[in-house]
Amino acid sequence: MILDRWQRPLGHLRISVTDRCNLRCAYCMPEPDYVWLPRTTLLTFEELTRVTRLVSALGVRHVRLTGGEPLLRAQVTDLTRQLSAIGSLDDIAMTTNGVLLAPLAPGLRDAGLRRITVSLDTLRADRFRELTRRDQLDDVLAGIEAASLAFGRIKIDTVLMRGTNDDEIEPLLAYAAQRGAEIRFIEYMDVPGATHWDAAKVVSREEILARVGRAFGPVEALPSDGPAPALRYRLASGQVFGIIASTTTPFCATCDRLRLTADGHLFFCLYATRGLDIRTPLRDGASDEELTALIRTAWQARTDRGAEARLAAPDRGAFVGVDALRKSPQLEMHTRGG
Ligand code: GTP
Ligand code: 5AD
Ligand code: SF4
Repeated sequence: MILDRWQRPLGHLRISVTDRCNLRCAYCMPEPDYVWLPRTTLLTFEELTRVTRLVSALGVRHVRLTGGEPLLRAQVTDLTRQLSAIGSLDDIAMTTNGVLLAPLAPGLRDAGLRRITVSLDTLRADRFRELTRRDQLDDVLAGIEAASLAFGRIKIDTVLMRGTNDDEIEPLLAYAAQRGAEIRFIEYMDVPGATHWDAAKVVSREEILARVGRAFGPVEALPSDGPAPALRYRLASGQVFGIIASTTTPFCATCDRLRLTADGHLFFCLYATRGLDIRTPLRDGASDEELTALIRTAWQARTDRGAEARLAAPDRGAFVGVDALRKSPQLEMHTRGG
């Protein structure tokens, strides 16, 4: 186990397997066009598996595949199989927008994927089109159905934005109950990439709880399950749901997450503006020991508490501007893994 400067152990690795996405969600990719990572810089499955094996020896037990949209990476099922073969991981999970999920869900399960989270921000087709600039709600709903069959209990992630989908808290909760899924409402975050972020559009945990209480009766808070970002709650019906309140209530104090971008940069915080280039040493023939030393030293020097720093920022607006993002696409949430 290794500890950073705030005594936080390294526990989770989030791998962004591609920066491409087939949706354009308003909270993540609101711009008309994007600068993509050059394909030659993408780590191969062998490289991704090697880095994962090395960080597992440093304490990582949970790996999550994200993107962009992870299912756009060709043969991502094979990557899942290679990661499962590492043997020392307790958990391999994926966060997907669900569009391509229906036909792939059983194969992912067979390849060793343990858990799946699907993003779903609305149940209305017209609103889905507005929010994502694509007309694919039916594919997402089919993906959720197929994943529930393949994986049993899945999770659903909903980013709430005032004036956009905040009137759907109740129908989305009912939908999750009917599907047997655990839904988590996420506060809109000012992560790099959220160039249209505005404090007035954040629907806070407090507000969500009040709304849920009015519609469904008393809400019981459940004990937290480790350094996971979601606070969990139970309704009188027994339905469990979560709230991810990183904007108003950051969980930086217990954050054990390391992020790996598709082009081989390690980010130690969602809000970090610089990553550690691991692709260059990887491709220059560094040994396992050399790579491990590089990562260990960087983790031990880690001081990031990005969401807390944002909370303390005066006149909080979008964190990184469009021009800076075009120059450094690695900063984008869709590049470093949502
Ligand atoms: P579980 O293990 O299932 O709880 O996974 P998870 O909640 O970590 O994963 P998921 O990909 O579903 O993350 C949900 C949301 O939490 C993300 O989309 C972000 O909005 C937020 N989130 C994830 N990681 C971080 C993080 O490191 N910092 C902050 N501030 N928010 C995060
Ligand atoms: N605020 C909150 N969550 C975000 N995500 C991306 N951008 C934001 C943002 N600005 C998360 C969502 C989405 C996943 C891919 O990344 O949970 O479903
Ligand atoms: Fe971790 Fe940074 Fe997110 Fe805080 S803001 S929880 S330190 S990734």
